[in-house]
Amino acid sequence: NYYAILMAGGVGSRFWPISTEQFPKQFHDMLGTGDTLIQKTFSRLSQVIPKENIFILTNEKYNDLVLQQLPEVTQRQVVLEPAMRNTAPCILYASLKIQKENPDAVMIVAPSDHWIEDENAFSQNVQQAFQFCEQNDALMTLGITPTFPNTGYGYIESGEATNGIHPVIQFREKPDYETAKQFLSQGNFLWNAGIFMWSVASVIKAFENNQPELFQLFKTGIPSYNTQSEEEFISNNYAKAENISVDYAIMESSKNVYVIPATFDWNDLGTWGSLYDKLDKDKDQNAVVNAKTLTEDASGNMIRTKADKLVVVDGLKDYIIVDKDEVLLIFPKTKEQDIKTVLQNVKDQF
Ligand code: GDD
Ligand code: MG
Repeated sequence: NYYAILMAGGVGSRFWPISTEQFPKQFHDMLGTGDTLIQKTFSRLSQVIPKENIFILTNEKYNDLVLQQLPEVTQRQVVLEPAMRNTAPCILYASLKIQKENPDAVMIVAPSDHWIEDENAFSQNVQQAFQFCEQNDALMTLGITPTFPNTGYGYIESGEATNGIHPVIQFREKPDYETAKQFLSQGNFLWNAGIFMWSVASVIKAFENNQPELFQLFKTGIPSYNTQSEEEFISNNYAKAENISVDYAIMESSKNVYVIPATFDWNDLGTWGSLYDKLDKDKDQNAVVNAKTLTEDASGNMIRTKADKLVVVDGLKDYIIVDKDEVLLIFPKTKEQDIKTVLQNVKDQF
């Protein structure tokens, strides 16, 4: 009864120029290991979940990429979205499809672009959560010990644990900086890893209670799901869904949220800087992917090119240097968040 939905519909704009709308970061080998991020995630999940029960949720334009990169996956497992509406609509839609196939399903919802090295610890945490979800009406998440007041994450206030599982006192998505700082000083807050576990029955109930409109919209389609007429229903209705993330849609308002503190190292690989942190460095702390480098008085740089390109760097510290086809990016790491804006400005030229 174990299922997974793997979210692979994001664009990863802060990883431009490698990540683009046509070819987003989850389909790239960002770590230089030979596997793309979605391949790594699929293999991690398949340690706990039967491969044929792993569904990939993505925009219709990435269908071919998914099938190419995950040859074990069949078209049945690729759930296509005709429009980008954030994570709540696609999770509800996929959950209803899975419920129709197997009403007793227990599932994990996982992003396709995270870095998790200790796969055994990950599997153990997921199995523990699955067992709890089989017995309880629970929305479960994995928590990460926070290290700074990051305003891009969800925060989880955890209560007293029973058998390693903490009830959640409050779930707060992307608080402002002052609030995040206060959460950190309080001590009993965790970051939301963005990895959720629940039974299909529980997650669908949470949508029914907290997002009645969204629920109605996708419920209307149930007779068509997993049949010939599904595509028609979705293409006529999907875009009507509200653009909202699962965190705001159900996690903040539900009372039956629980958290397991993750026992593995985690990084959401959101920016070049977070990737830099996870890569091996040379003696001057430069992280180099694919390039051959000759560095002089250069340190802390993130360098990525096409295979075997020679890059000579002198006098540059803490920069992102990324070379791809017709684009060369040289950008200070401290301003990495602004790459998104740069991309907006130059988009028309590519
Ligand atoms: N299929 C699909 N469709 N996937 C999507 C869509 C969509 O419309 N939008 C986003 N995703 C995928 C992204 O590719 C990513 O893998 C995942 O869903 C999460 O979306 P993000 O946009 O990266 O969310 P976030 O980083 O702002 O916040 C979430 O993750 C944080 C941890 O990384 C939240 O869950 C936070 O609470 C959490 O701390
Ligand atoms: Mg993210």
